[in-house]
Parts: sequence; structure tokens; C-alpha cells
Amino acid sequence: MKVLVVGSGGREHTLVWKIAQSKLVNKVYCAPGNGGIAELAECVDIKADDIDGLLEFARAEGIGLTVVGPEAPLSLGIVDCFEKNGMRIFGPCRKGAMLESSKVFSKDFMIRNKIPTAAYKVYYEPGKAKAGLDDFGCPVVIKADGLAAGKGVIIAQTREEAISAIDDMLIGKKFGEAGSKIVIEEFLEGKEASILAFVDGKAAVPMVSAQDYKRALDNDEGLNTGGMGAVSPAFYYDEETAAAVERDIIQRTVDALKAEGICYKGVLYFGIMITEKGPKVLEYNARFGDPETEVVLLRLESDLIEIMNSVIDGKLEAQKIQWKEEQAVCVVMASGGYPEHYEKGYEIKGLDKAAEIDGVTVFHAGTKKASGKIVTAGGRVLVISALAKNYEQARDRAYSAIRTIAFEKAHYRKDIGKK
Ligand code: AMP
Ligand code: GLY
Repeated sequence: MKVLVVGSGGREHTLVWKIAQSKLVNKVYCAPGNGGIAELAECVDIKADDIDGLLEFARAEGIGLTVVGPEAPLSLGIVDCFEKNGMRIFGPCRKGAMLESSKVFSKDFMIRNKIPTAAYKVYYEPGKAKAGLDDFGCPVVIKADGLAAGKGVIIAQTREEAISAIDDMLIGKKFGEAGSKIVIEEFLEGKEASILAFVDGKAAVPMVSAQDYKRALDNDEGLNTGGMGAVSPAFYYDEETAAAVERDIIQRTVDALKAEGICYKGVLYFGIMITEKGPKVLEYNARFGDPETEVVLLRLESDLIEIMNSVIDGKLEAQKIQWKEEQAVCVVMASGGYPEHYEKGYEIKGLDKAAEIDGVTVFHAGTKKASGKIVTAGGRVLVISALAKNYEQARDRAYSAIRTIAFEKAHYRKDIGKK
């Protein structure tokens, strides 16, 4: 079978890497892909949100399965479009993807279905939103309703910060239409975990747990980013928490989706805060997380395409899914300046040496091939992933690999994989 992966980041490189190992696959394409993906797949120059272009390509090339990485095409209805045209595709329909693409939709859904989450209110007008702050105290969380590339969540420590976040979104239109509605939310204290689950419309099977490092600098300082590293399993996800998440969050969510007539198939990502009162949902994502995928799929023993087929065919319950006992750590090498301004086009050296280190796999996020060289092409450039018997050894392996790699103004956190 020929498989097309949609997207161009570290997550998609990991998907391509795992899919290329499947017995069921003889050729992998990726649209648009990146410099590392090009080693394993044929990259095609079609943007991830060009749904008509992707459909046309998939038909012409006889693609047996399309796998969608990022949220944008899902929220535009790529799955509905492919299915209507008789093409097999892995991911949720547009309605299902609204769990990610609209915070208002997802919060209302959770409350309606008694899924534990932070208390919240929805506002359209700055005056009412500011008056509403009195209900919450500080810190308080302000979220843009729509997709904002991970930047639409502000944790305001003071009332002044909250007011300026409200003004930025509702008056300054900082996130455009995505911020024309906002959610003001109770601040939850606790430890975070990312739980990804396969969902086939009725059953859900959680993957091994993960935890990402969102801040740009060591000790969780600096700006929020798309993620600077991850570990699997998550540090604070004990059996009791896992049981509560499976019962009160994952199964309840899947049952509610079905009861509301949304046939959700694909991966559902649960951003969890483990609080004193039990685990609560911070957010849903309608896809694999990035960089969580770079540690979670490293631990997957089973054939990913077999699992994806079971998801699409509604046969997940009968599907065996095996994981490696080992622990995984991944560290992101980013362009200096990320998540704000940074330069691109620097040559990356030492990639071959890094890949020789035991247990290490180097995934490319923002790279491209130019005149036979691999150069930087984005904020997050590489994701150095390592598998080992424990976190310490995985950390050592990842950081040894990093020391062999060089590009100008490279930035990475030194504390990934430490509690
Ligand atoms: P989100 O994009 O909704 O996952 O939010 C990004 C990050 O903001 C989360 O990973 C949390 O670290 C933080 N966050 C979001 N909502 C809350 C909340 N209600 N309380 C505390 N932290 C939050
Ligand atoms: N790492 C968080 C996300 O993928 O949204």
C-alpha cells in the first residue's frame, strides 16, 4: 500500500519513520515534508491545508491511506472531503476536530458531559470580560477561542495582565477571528501530563503517557513554545491517576461524542492537569501532539498502520497494541530567538554522527535540503529522541547526540528529562 502523510514537522517525520517500518506499506509520500523526511519518503510540494490539491494527488497516485498530522487541515474538513470521495484517511471529521479548533465548543462539551475541567465563562465584549474577572481571582487564564498555533493561552498573574490580554484579543485582534471570542478560566494548580489515545468511534485505547516542556528556557522560564522537549512515561502519572483519566475523562469523552452524533476516529489528545482534586482536562487536541509523538511512537512496538486500520474500521477493541518498557526523552534544538524572531538557512552539521549513538533517532522539524546540504528552515529545527532503560540514560544519549550537532545560534534546554 502507498501511504501519504500530511504535514512537515517533527511529528510528521516520526509518523513517516514509523509507517515506513510497516509490513503493509511499500511507499510513503509526505506533503510537504522536510529535509529529514525526504530520506524516508517522497516529498510532494503541496501545502498541508490545500485539501483539493491533496485529494487530487492521492487519487492520481493511488494512495491507500492518508494520515493527517496537523490540526489545520482537520479543522478545514479534510477527512470529510476524502471520505466523501471514497478515499481512506486517518483523522477525525471536522466536527470532531472542533474539540481542538474551538475552546468554547470544547469547554461547553466538557461541562455538558460532566468531564472534569476548570470552571470558565465565555465572553465576546471586553467590558463584560473585565467585569467577569471578579469571579476568578488571580492567577487567571485567558484563552482565544480558535486555533492560534499554541500562543492563544495567557496565564495572567495579575488583574492588569488579564485586562491587557483581554484587550489584545477582543480589541487589538491579536489572534484575528480566532480571538473574537474568549474563554476566561480558573487557574488549575498541579502537574501536567499528555495522554494520547486511539479512538475508533466507540472504543478508546490510551497510548503510553508523556509530558512536554512548553517553556523556552531551563527551569520552565521564558515564553511558551510549541514544546522544547518531552519524556515518556510522564513523571507524575501513577496508576490511580491513569485509572481516573481512563474512566472519568477518556471513556466519558468518547461516549459523549458518540451520543452527540460525532463519529470521532483518529487520535485524541488529552492535556491533563493532575490536581489535588483529581485529574482535569486542560485541553483537547484532535491529533498526535508535537513533541509528544517523538517519544511515544519511539516506544510503540506494534505496527502503526495495523492500528490505524483498526481505528478506521471500528475494530480497535480486538487490536493488540504493544509498547516498549524503556523510557524515552526528546530534546528540541531550536533556532536562536525562537519562539520570537529567528533566522533560517544555517547549515546543520554532525547529523550522521548523532544518529550513530545507541538508542538515538534524530527527527527533523524545521529543516530543508538546499544544494545537497541540510539547512535550518523553522523555529524548532531538530528533535533528538532517545530510548533507554531509564530517563537518566535516555537523557545522556540525547544530549551526547546534541553535542555532535552544530548549526549557528542553536538553542536547546539543558534540563529536559529532569523532574
Ligand atoms: P492549552 O493550549 O490550552 O493546553 O494551554 C497551554 C498551557 O497553558 C497548558 O499546557 C498549561 O500549562 C497552561 N494552562 C492552560 N489552561 C490552564 C489552566 N486552567 N490552569 C493552569 N494552566 C493552564
Ligand atoms: N505539545 C502540545 C501540542 O502538540 O499541542
